[in-house]
Amino acid sequence: MRREHMSSKIYATITGVGHYAPEKVLTNDDLEKMVDTSDEWIVTRTGIRERHIAAPDEFTSHMAIAAARKALAHAGVAPEEVEAIYVATCTPDMVFPSTACLVQAGLGIKNAYGYDVSSACAGFVMALDTASAVISAGRIKTALVIGAEKLSAVTDWTSRNTCILFGDGAGAVVLQASDKPGMLSSYLGVDGNLSDILYLPAGGSKLPASEETVRERLHTVHMAGRETFKIAVNTMVDAAQTAVARAGLQIQDIDIIVPHQANHRIVDAVATRLGEGVRDIVFMNLERYGNTSAASIPIALSEAVASGQVKSGDNILMVSFGGGLSWGGGVWVWP
Ligand SMILES: CC(C)(COP(=O)(O)OP(=O)(O)OC[C@H]1O[C@@H](n2cnc3c(N)ncnc32)[C@H](O)[C@@H]1OP(=O)(O)O)[C@@H](O)C(=O)NCCC(=O)NCCS
Repeated sequence: MRREHMSSKIYATITGVGHYAPEKVLTNDDLEKMVDTSDEWIVTRTGIRERHIAAPDEFTSHMAIAAARKALAHAGVAPEEVEAIYVATCTPDMVFPSTACLVQAGLGIKNAYGYDVSSACAGFVMALDTASAVISAGRIKTALVIGAEKLSAVTDWTSRNTCILFGDGAGAVVLQASDKPGMLSSYLGVDGNLSDILYLPAGGSKLPASEETVRERLHTVHMAGRETFKIAVNTMVDAAQTAVARAGLQIQDIDIIVPHQANHRIVDAVATRLGEGVRDIVFMNLERYGNTSAASIPIALSEAVASGQVKSGDNILMVSFGGGLSWGGGVWVWP
C-alpha cells in the first residue's frame, strides 16, 4: 500500500437529505381560539405563523421513516446499504425500544445497529458528530442520521408561554464515507447547571407518571422564556464561531447557515453578532414549522437543498442550542 494512501483521510459526506411534515397545519389564528394570544404577538415575538401537528395515530417513528425514505431516495442508497441509524429525538415513541429500532424495522434495513440521541434541540448536531466520527474511523461506510419530533405530544396546550412555539416533523440525512470533504469541524457542549430553564419534568425515573404528575401537567415542556432566549443567543454565537474556527475558516467563507429554528429574534441576534451581511446567508423556514427541536436543522437543510440554495462546494454551518443545556455547531462541505 502506498504511503499517501495509508494516510488518506476518510470524510463523512452528506449524500442525501429529505424531510416530512404532518398534513395538519395549526395556524396562529387557530391558537387564538385555544389560548389568550394573538397572531400579531406570536409573529412579532417569534416569527412563527404556523406549525404542523401529527395525527393522533402518527408517531415520531412514522415521521422519521418518511423523512429517511426521502433521504435514501435522494442519495440513491438502498435500505440494505445502511449500517447505522441515529435518531435524534426528545419525543421517542416510547422510552424503549429506541426509535432507531422502529426505523430499522419500518424501512426493512438489515444488518444495522441504531440508537437514539437525546439532547433536545441540539440532538441532530450531536448525532451528526457521532455518525461522522464513526465513518471517519473507517468502522462503517453509510449511516442514516434523523431528527424527528412529535412535540405536540409534550406541549401544554393551555399554556400560551410554550404552546405557540412548537411543531412536529422530521428530517434525515444519509452520511457516506468519501475521500472528499465532508465534515470539516464540529464543536459540542453541555451544561447541566441550567437544566431547569428548559425541561420536561415527569415521565422519567425522578417523577414517574402518577395522578399528580398528570394533574400538574408535568409531562409537558417547561421553559423560562427570557433566560432561554439570552443564553441561546450567547451559546449559538460561541458554537458558530468555534465551529468555523475549527474548520480553519472565517465566517465570510461560509455560504449558508442552517440554524436551529427556535425563534426569529434569536437567530437575528446571532447573525448580527456573527458579522455584517451574515443575516443574508441564514436559511429560515421557522414561520411554517415553528420549533421542531431535533428535527429543525435537517428539515431546514432539506428545504434549502430542494430550493437550490445549496450548491456543490458550498460551506454549510449548522448551529444549534437546546435544553440540557446543550449546544453544537458543525461545518460541512456540500459534495
Ligand atoms: C417565549 C418568548 C417568545 C416570550 O417572549 P418575551 O418577549 O420574552 O415575553 P415574556 O415572557 O417576557 O412575556 C411578556 C408578556 O407577554 C405575555 N405572553 C407570553 N406569552 C404570550 C402569548 N403567547 N401571547 C400573548 N402574550 C403572551 C406574558 O404573559 C407577559 O405578560 P406580562 O408582561 O403581562 O407579564 C421568548 O422569551 C422566547 O422566544 N424565548 C426563547 C424560547 C425558545 O426558543 N425556546 C426553545 C429553545 S431551543
